[in-house]
Amino acid sequence: MTRLKNEVAIITGGAGDIGSAHVESFVREGANVIIADINEEKGNLIAKENSSFSSENKVKYVHLNSTDEESWKKLSSKTIEEFGKISILVNCYGTNFREKFINQNLENWNTILNVNLTSVFIGIKELIPFFKLSGKGSIINIGSLASLKGSASSPAYTASKTGLIGLTKSTAVAFAKDKIRCNLVCPGHVDTNFIRNDSDYSPNDWNTSINNPENYNQRLSQIPLGRLQTPKDIANLSTFLASEDSNMITGGIIAVDGGVTI
Ligand SMILES: NC(=O)c1ccc[n+]([C@@H]2O[C@H](COP(=O)([O-])OP(=O)(O)OC[C@H]3O[C@@H](n4cnc5c(N)ncnc54)[C@H](O)[C@@H]3O)[C@@H](O)[C@H]2O)c1
Repeated sequence: MTRLKNEVAIITGGAGDIGSAHVESFVREGANVIIADINEEKGNLIAKENSSFSSENKVKYVHLNSTDEESWKKLSSKTIEEFGKISILVNCYGTNFREKFINQNLENWNTILNVNLTSVFIGIKELIPFFKLSGKGSIINIGSLASLKGSASSPAYTASKTGLIGLTKSTAVAFAKDKIRCNLVCPGHVDTNFIRNDSDYSPNDWNTSINNPENYNQRLSQIPLGRLQTPKDIANLSTFLASEDSNMITGGIIAVDGGVTI
């Protein structure tokens, strides 16, 4: 399995459930990987766990607060220092505060837009010069069902994830001539902390958590293929999009949702 041999990938949100599945898949496919996440303890742990898969390629943790330009600059220089180039970026951080439209408070609105959308712009802008130096790049943004459907309980999250469609397509158009591709992967209901009620970044109450059997079954009933997604389901698509197997795919908005949005 060497689809990503000689590639250097930054996986942001790499300490999270979906992000860490990306780390494992990318390392197994031969990439050198930087886990960039605000959660230092978990980031270091995931780096250690994945270090044993290969003796040839390496995985390291670097702290990132995605909303901070300086933090992205430190990330790019540490990646270059460690691996000499950058060829893949996965944007897999995210936050949500579920509030009915009429109750959505402005502070939470701004936080969600900042983390889920503005951060992605800052990160892409910082890394474009490094992709140009590599002669190519693959950027994979992680959207959501909410990129494709409205939501009564998460207007800011929906606006941020829909915004990623425009940002992904604009990036794809702007940098195709430099062989830099950009695609949006839209997970459906993925069994992770994000939709349980034990996440700092996406607090759920009992009604919106899959720990509640009623909520779980309601989500399940929407999925034609009959099960919630796993983090690996999402990482499988991203691994393909990161590799040369997808070298004619850019600006794609691709759902991994078991058919919810058909
Ligand atoms: N779980 C789902 O059902 C689902 C569905 C659709 C989309 N998504 C999207 O998938 C992505 C990953 O979600 P997950 O389920 O793995 O959640 P998660 O909570 O396990 O992971 C999120 C990660 O992002 C990191 N993070 C949060 N804010 C950050 C910041 N400002 N800077 C750097 N890192 C930050 C956290 O430390 C965490 O490691 C998110 O973009 C989410 O919107 C998840």
